[in-house]
Parts: sequence; structure tokens; C-alpha cells
Amino acid sequence: MSKKIASARITEDSSQLLKELNNSLPFDRELYREDIEGSKAHAYMLYKNGILSKHEFRSIESGLNEIRDEIDSGEFRLDGDDEDIHMAIEQRLTHKIGSAGKRLHTARSRNDQVAVDFRLYVQRSNREIVNLLIKLIETVVDIADSSIEIMLPGMTHLQHAQPINFGYHMLAYASMFKRDVERFKSSYRRNNYSPLGCAALAGTSYPIDRGLTSDMLGFREPTLNCLDTVSDRDFALEILFNISLLFTHISRLSEELIIWSSSEFNFITLSDRHSTGSSIMPQKKNPDIPELLRAKSGRANGNLVALLTVMKSLPLAYNKDMQEDKEPVFDSVKNATISLKILDEMLRDMNINRDSMERATLVGHLSATDLADHLVKRLNIPFRDAYHITGEIVNLAEDRGVDISELQLKDLQSIEPKLDGEALEILDNRRCMDSRDSLGGTSTEQTLKQIDSLKDWLLEEKRGDLDV
Ligand code: ARG
Repeated sequence: MSKKIASARITEDSSQLLKELNNSLPFDRELYREDIEGSKAHAYMLYKNGILSKHEFRSIESGLNEIRDEIDSGEFRLDGDDEDIHMAIEQRLTHKIGSAGKRLHTARSRNDQVAVDFRLYVQRSNREIVNLLIKLIETVVDIADSSIEIMLPGMTHLQHAQPINFGYHMLAYASMFKRDVERFKSSYRRNNYSPLGCAALAGTSYPIDRGLTSDMLGFREPTLNCLDTVSDRDFALEILFNISLLFTHISRLSEELIIWSSSEFNFITLSDRHSTGSSIMPQKKNPDIPELLRAKSGRANGNLVALLTVMKSLPLAYNKDMQEDKEPVFDSVKNATISLKILDEMLRDMNINRDSMERATLVGHLSATDLADHLVKRLNIPFRDAYHITGEIVNLAEDRGVDISELQLKDLQSIEPKLDGEALEILDNRRCMDSRDSLGGTSTEQTLKQIDSLKDWLLEEKRGDLDV
């Protein structure tokens, strides 16, 4: 029987089923770069503090570099019988460089090793998602910038309510994604502390320098309480929550894209590159991408609840339960990154059907509220009376089969003789839209202000550093 490198007590071979249940290599091999980077920093720190010789450090470092290249190239496939990525790399190292490899694990435990690897992965994913979100916001702001002139019915309860411009509608999503950026960045900052050197749970008796490894790995500083550090998976839970909320936003946009691309609306047309066909109905063009993006929320929420449930009531410190932390995070991160990329591409390529949007503003008497306000402001009619007069005018338009904004002056006067030509202007949808000029409103001027503010923010973001 081969001697297990991580068990001095166990003398019998493991059951095949135990291996299948217990081994995390099939999924944690995702962390090989982080594991090698963490080990190199640890080895350097051991050498600097007189725990390893220069020669031992050098051979560990070059061995680890070779292993990284072998994994990159596919030569070392990480499909063996090893328990996890940490054991797989350590075994390979010892196989390559001999006894120096066996010294690497001095003053370290897999508990701080896995914590540092996983935290590096999550921090990198935070950065990647922030960059993709910034790109997406730029796209959304570009679309907004070029569609301020385009009117469409703003809705509540999915019913026509008031005219707004399409740019303004898109900026609502830019605002959500901006909050997402802030959330990922705040999680990044809160968790940018190094677990390395915490060892099993209580620190170590070797003269290590946690500040040095923290600097080398790009963390702000080492964490303070080792017991908390090896038990902590808040950083993983935070990225899962941030991705869940991001998908909530993406799913709302996707839902609108799906509705808008239906024949009934025809507000947008997705490009052929981003549409799919039906296997039986030759005429069909389906919005599979936004449908899938809409559905990804389910998986993201499931991943979040899965890890929250694993962590709940776990005693300190490391428990094997915590190995269940990785798959949900890998899954959510992968789905978030591909979704952000394809959403950006699809939005850039989609066609905005101005005529259909504007035709729709002639349904639903969108300027009725404005006429009631006009009766109050100009003719000093009490609002409740103005409301009823406008209701009668709406009924007249309904009888004629036209929108209130299409009535003639004599039609208006047949109900309220004091109305004059100004009322016709009031009923014009575009004027109606531009009159909503309060801060954050849909008027052209307010929309332009929102675009400017987002552009300034984007410039700052692109200049700024995540760490500040
Ligand atoms: N594969 C383990 C995990 O992912 C690594 C940590 C193992 N530590 C231990 N003491 N068994 O959580």
C-alpha cells in the first residue's frame, strides 16, 4: 500500500466511495494558479525567515513554475487520485525535486492554504466582473446617448402610463449596474486580507512573516484572528449574493428585451447573430439569449442559498463541510462572466425600432394627466373636477377611436368651452415628456444630465483602483 502523504494514522487503503465523495480535485483544480502562487510566496517567506535554505527555496520555486507550465499546457492533467489540488501539486513537486518539496508545508496547513487560494480566486473574480460591468454600462450609456429622441410609453403594471424617452429607460439599467459595481468593489475591499500563515486554526510557532506573504499576494494586510480566518467564507457568500442581485437586474432587462422583441411590441429586433431558429417553424426567430439570462437568476440564487445553508451553525474552525463552498462559487462566477459578455454584445447589435415605439405612444392617452393639470393651472378648476372633465375628453377620443393627443380643438371645446389652442400643445406627447423636467425626470435636459453624470463616473472608475 502506498503511504498517504496527508495521513500518518490511516493504514488501510480508502474505500473507492470515500474517494468519490471526499476528493475535491475534480473541481478544485480550478484553483491551480492560485495554489502555486500562494505556495511560492509561502516558500519565499520561509526562506527569508531562515526556515528554508536559499537552495531549497530556489528548487521549490522552479519546481512550482514547471508544474504551472505543465498544467497550462495540458501535460499534467490533474485527473489523478489525489484528494485535492493542494495534495496534487505538493505530490508532484516532491516527485520532481525530492526532499525540498516535503519542506514546503512547514508552518502551513491546508486550512489556511485553501482559504488563501479561494480568496485569491474570489478577489480576481470580483475584479473581472467589475471590468465587465463597466464595459456593459458604457454600452448602455452609448445606447441611451443615441436614443434620447426616441419616445415610447413608460409603463406601470405593464400598462401605458406616461411618455418617456428610450435613453431614459436604458439609464434605469445603467443605474442598477452602477450599484452592482459598487457592491462588488465594496466586497473586494472588505475581504482584501491575507489568510496565509494562520495555519490550522491557532497560528504557528515558527517565526513567520505574514505581512510579507500578504504583500506578495496583493492583499492589503494579513487578517487578525486566525481562528476566524480559517472558518470564514463571508467573501464567498458576498460574491454569491452580489451575483444573485446582478442576475436579478439582468433578468429584468432580459424580460423587457423578450417582450419588446415580440410581434405585438416590435420595439427592438435582436440581431441574427443573437437569435435562434425553431426546428419545426421555419419563420421563427427566438430570443434564446435573454431567456437564458433571465433563467440564470434561478441558478445564482440556488448557489447562494446552498452556501448559506452549508455555513449556518458550523462550529469553528475548518470543517469538511466547507469543501462544498467551491462549486457554487465557480458556477455563479462562470455564469456571471459569460452573461455579462453576451449581454454587452447583444445590446450593441440590437436594432431599436423607433416607429413602433412612437406609434405605441398614441395608445393609452398618455398625456391625459397633463391636460387635467392644465385645467387646474390655467383655468383654476379644482383638480377633482379637472380629472372628470379630462375623463370625458378621454371617452370622446375612445368613441372616435383616436388618442387624446389626436383630437381637434373643437372636440375639446365641446366638453370644456374655455379650452384654447394651448390645450392642444399640452396634449402633444413630446411636450408632455419634456415637461417632466424635475431632477431625475425624463425630459431631454434631465436625461442628458444623467448621461453626463454616468460618463463622469465611468471615467473615474476607469482611472481608479479597486483597492482605494
Ligand atoms: N479540499 C479541502 C477543501 O476544499 C481543502 C482543505 C482541507 N483541509 C483539511 N483539514 N481537510 O476545503
